[in-house]
Amino acid sequence: MRTPIIAGNWKMNTTVVEAAELVKAMKDKLNQIAGVEKVLCPPFVSLTAVRELIRGASIKLGAQNMYFEKSGAYTGEVSPQMLSGLCEYVILGHSERRGYFGESDQIVNKKVRAALATGLTPIVCVGESLKENEAGETISVVTRQVKGAFEGIDSPKGTVIAYEPIWAIGTGKAATGVQANATIKVIRDSVFRLYGDQIARAIRIQYGGSVNSANIAEFIGQPDIDGALVGGASLKAADFLGIVEQTAKIKKTG
Ligand code: 13P
Repeated sequence: MRTPIIAGNWKMNTTVVEAAELVKAMKDKLNQIAGVEKVLCPPFVSLTAVRELIRGASIKLGAQNMYFEKSGAYTGEVSPQMLSGLCEYVILGHSERRGYFGESDQIVNKKVRAALATGLTPIVCVGESLKENEAGETISVVTRQVKGAFEGIDSPKGTVIAYEPIWAIGTGKAATGVQANATIKVIRDSVFRLYGDQIARAIRIQYGGSVNSANIAEFIGQPDIDGALVGGASLKAADFLGIVEQTAKIKKTG
């Protein structure tokens, strides 16, 4: 049994004050929901404040990115060492990082290695563009990205993978549950080829892309989907709570 995991990727939203307000609006209720791992990923500058606010609650903290070097002359970057002890998770290889900041599979691989070496748990994002999807390249793209992310890594430890088709991110056009499950099965097969049956069965794979409290049930009801990486809806306390509540209910009965 894989514990479902719902993570909120706040992206470049919320000031420190707003981040604190958002946490306060959902902390108590989130804390009471059992059977789902709940992760908040605020901007770097709010990690410390959010960490204080969720202390003692069953809510985990994640960063949205990091650099792979330990320290040094890399103006503006944040190292794994700076994050370790502050948060448990780190989102790596998000399509916005790949697209706007030129992160290649090799860079993602260096980041995954650095995160694992520092005791951080990566949430590795993969997913095809609309053009790739329409050209029938979804399987080859996600397979290449998974292979690339884990190149030369002996064990992915607790790494989580998020399948986020780029055409579904922030567009309001989510994949269907069946579509997402089919691609996630392909991703699980890639993990099987890299690490064998036990790890492929244990690794958690989320769906991401226009997930909200009105459509989460469709994804969570699928056998290979172990949770969601939520963007826009994670900035609304009621919506995020609804997503986590339904996940707990559906995975408990399913
Ligand atoms: P939206 O939920 O806003 O589509 O964003 C998804 C995403 O990119 C999460 O990482």
